[in-house]
Amino acid sequence: MLLSHAKFSRPTQQQYTRSRKAMAPHNIHFDCPCVPFPTTVVATTVKTTSAAFFFFTDLLDETYKNIAEKRVVEVTRSRSLCAKSLLPTFVSRIIKIMNITKDDTFYDFGCGNGSILFQIAHSTGASCIGIEISEQNADVAREAHAYLTAKLKDQSASHFPSIKIVTDDITKYLAAEPLKEHAKGKNLILLSNLLFPKPLTQFIAENLRKAPLGTQILCFDDLYPHGRTLAKIRDPEAFELFEMRDYVWQKESVEWCGAEGPFYVHTRK
Ligand SMILES: C[S@@+](CC[C@H](N)C(=O)[O-])C[C@H]1O[C@@H](n2cnc3c(N)ncnc32)[C@H](O)[C@@H]1O
Repeated sequence: MLLSHAKFSRPTQQQYTRSRKAMAPHNIHFDCPCVPFPTTVVATTVKTTSAAFFFFTDLLDETYKNIAEKRVVEVTRSRSLCAKSLLPTFVSRIIKIMNITKDDTFYDFGCGNGSILFQIAHSTGASCIGIEISEQNADVAREAHAYLTAKLKDQSASHFPSIKIVTDDITKYLAAEPLKEHAKGKNLILLSNLLFPKPLTQFIAENLRKAPLGTQILCFDDLYPHGRTLAKIRDPEAFELFEMRDYVWQKESVEWCGAEGPFYVHTRK
């Protein structure tokens, strides 16, 4: 099984420092030797050695340790509210894969504690919007945002571009705020939807068929299944609307599982 509820929490500072030492100087190659599905997997390489990367990931660790509110990671009979995260090296890779720039608008649908928004805003300058149904998780994200903003200001290191955290259900948000076209820049959506109920993923898949051209959607439970020949016969529209690319996340790059697994990037064409 891909998802494990075994105890796999965010690495401690000590573990992180250890793995950081082991990594540096290090280019991580993602050329995915064992691919469990019959589609083309895209290889990418990302550098995670910059001082800015380590400065910011250390600051994130400090932030979540010091803020009072803590995220929800276990909810009986509501697995979809589990706010475990992608880890920073994976987020760096996402920045590269989606080519995120300061002109873009990045959405994290189900933003949990906000860590992805913060790293992307800090690294790229993109405008970031997080939608989170759990009030507790959204409060953690807002508290973390305030902490980080104050820290960065104190150190005169840098400041955040716009980050908005909205407490809402993705379905309601999308109905009220359809994605807009931007004069400059594109919409980018992260959907950490492995634990989402199927109807929620299906609702999002239908809604995003109307997304503006150039919108990229990164998902884990495939919005537009496309790996088998039959898929094109079942849903020809998805193939007309989207360019689909398949990837594999690397071991130890997500908090919810130590193994590797597939993810997809669909670009509205
Ligand atoms: C696995 S976490 C992902 C956190 C973050 N996006 C990341 O990748 O690090 C999924 C989050 O989605 C939220 N969520 C689940 N269903 C939702 C819904 N219908 N609307 C908004 N957020 C939802 C959960 O509360 C949880 O915090």
